[in-house]
Amino acid sequence: MMTMNLNPASFTGTDLTITEYPNPVLRRRGDDIAKFDDALRQTCKEMITIMYEADGVGLAAPQVNLSLRLFVYNPTGDVARPELERIVCNPRIVTYSDTVVVDCEGCLSSRSGRCEGSVCRAKELMVEYQDEDGRKIRKKLTGFEAIVFQHEFDHVEGILHFDRFAPEDRTNIQPELEIMIGEYTKGDGVLEPDATVFKSLKPPPLVRKGWMPPIELPSIPSLLKPKSKNKSKPAVKAGFGAGGGGMGGGIGKGKKKKK
Ligand code: CO
Repeated sequence: MMTMNLNPASFTGTDLTITEYPNPVLRRRGDDIAKFDDALRQTCKEMITIMYEADGVGLAAPQVNLSLRLFVYNPTGDVARPELERIVCNPRIVTYSDTVVVDCEGCLSSRSGRCEGSVCRAKELMVEYQDEDGRKIRKKLTGFEAIVFQHEFDHVEGILHFDRFAPEDRTNIQPELEIMIGEYTKGDGVLEPDATVFKSLKPPPLVRKGWMPPIELPSIPSLLKPKSKNKSKPAVKAGFGAGGGGMGGGIGKGKKKKK
């Protein structure tokens, strides 16, 4: 059996380990953070350690078996760039841009490289959250950071990246998911997301490879009326890119895209 892309069994200075699909904690909506105390700050520190040691760019609390609305990230995944680390408590995505990007994603909770596929995300977000001291933060995110934020936000909602795959991509990784389901011996796993949460996903999941969600045009008559024969380019950056097949391309460089 392949052993590559498995998570380390333990991490420096913490008892926390990474939970994997189909662990039910990954399908639960996390509880709000109510106390911004030393215990919370210690948990965040340990999560950041795990994120780097597992070679990720983000890590959400359910991924370390804590059902909380909490995640950490560093879009560079570079331990030498701590100024880019973010601790996000009680996140809210206030607005999603109509412009979307499609890029390849993997996840530490589904054996990273073995379950990658194309995911559609808003290109820009307005977000609100609290830091580890409870301070309120509101800001605009773009580029790879916005993608990472959406991936981690999904985790605290009980959504996994492959829930957003086109059916073909899901079919491709299903054998790997079946292996994980077979290896999960701690009780009943939860295979699919909550139906209500799934139905309200923004942007909507890909319905087939190469498909893009409809762009909501501003309701200006001049934009809606004349149907030009040359379909104007949608305001979309497709990450199906160079190699095709939904791998690679798009935002973010390097291979550190595990979240
Ligand atoms: Co993930």
